[in-house]
Amino acid sequence: MSDLQGKHLVLGLTGGIACYKAAELCRAFVKEGATVQVVMTEAAERFITPVTMQALSGRPVYTSQWDARESNGMPHINLSREADAIVIAPCSADFMARLVQGRADELLSLLCLARPIDRVPLLLAPAMNREMWAHPATQRNMAQLVQDGTTILGVGSGFQACGETGDGRMLGPHELLEDIVASMQPKLLRGRRVLVTAGPTFEAIDPVRGITNHSSGKMGFAVARAAREAGADVVLVAGPVALATPRGVRRIDVQSAREMLDAVQAEAMQADVFVATAAVADWRPASFSADKIKKAEGAAPPALAFVENPDILQAVAQGERARAGRLFCVGFAAESGDLLANAQAKRARKGVPLLVGNIGPAAFGQDHNEVLLVDAQGTWQLPRASKRALARTLVAEIAGRLTNP
Ligand code: C5P
Repeated sequence: MSDLQGKHLVLGLTGGIACYKAAELCRAFVKEGATVQVVMTEAAERFITPVTMQALSGRPVYTSQWDARESNGMPHINLSREADAIVIAPCSADFMARLVQGRADELLSLLCLARPIDRVPLLLAPAMNREMWAHPATQRNMAQLVQDGTTILGVGSGFQACGETGDGRMLGPHELLEDIVASMQPKLLRGRRVLVTAGPTFEAIDPVRGITNHSSGKMGFAVARAAREAGADVVLVAGPVALATPRGVRRIDVQSAREMLDAVQAEAMQADVFVATAAVADWRPASFSADKIKKAEGAAPPALAFVENPDILQAVAQGERARAGRLFCVGFAAESGDLLANAQAKRARKGVPLLVGNIGPAAFGQDHNEVLLVDAQGTWQLPRASKRALARTLVAEIAGRLTNP
């Protein structure tokens, strides 16, 4: 999926060692389908050459308001009107101060000032030494910029090029990309609290063994990401999976179904939406051996007995909050066939307003899927698409079904 398909971005670079990360960011924009026009300040040219940025963006870089390429002699007007967004990465402390003052004596600040403010968002990725970041002047400037309608993408924390450790590092290119893509999504769930379960559960037999399943967690993580992109406060309860936490999402890691139930019940009390994508193990070993079960010469293999796990979705959907209409529950059904009948039956059995059916073996671990939505009105097939795209559609479907707070 190309998250920036059809978008035209102006990528502005100001003076800072983080310019080396802007090269990777530019590549990431292009890879996601955007066209990118790079504009650099004189200080940025000290850190990285326009040739590098030209090669990565596929377009000559602009560095001066006196650039003769523009027939009307107004690159600040032309560049800012073509853009769907202007991203300044890295954005120096000095450049922030310049924006606050509305300075316009070089091309980048000039085009920021000249941009149609209601149509072209300005996003800043600050990058500076921790003392510069913490300085009241910088914090004051930042507050003013936010008031002026600018989006501040936040900073990272850790080891800095100057040898000090603290806040003020530019976020990594992929963190910035995720936040920039999120900033462009409609805020359909603003102010809502969304709880998502994802991944398999792991049911221990002894300290070294257990049973689990092939769920990768990709669909649930995509739902959590899409909900956050839509402006929700998101909690993701994840079974054991090897996936990065979506930006801005609070993650609670669990192993077993019972741990997942505990985490979900605690969080569901505050949630407005619960999406159960986790492939919870239906059964767990009836007993847990605190010591590793040893293989003995000539002895029969251990006989495993199982007991049923709690049904998390059912418990939440039948809870007080859901029954009072304050928690909208969505279930998933991973079937191996007869999707329609199975999904309809599961929706009724779980007591949820919306159920998403898919063919489990075809979906596990994949980046793409096709799903069937089932609600009281009928069924809709969502054609094959990336899990991220399906998650965004699902979030829109959920948002459309929520009653006003
Ligand atoms: O009954 P089945 O496991 O097919 O139901 C799938 C749906 O129920 C999914 O939404 C899954 O997350 C949820 N579920 C659950 N707790 C269980 C079993 C399933 O929350 N023990």
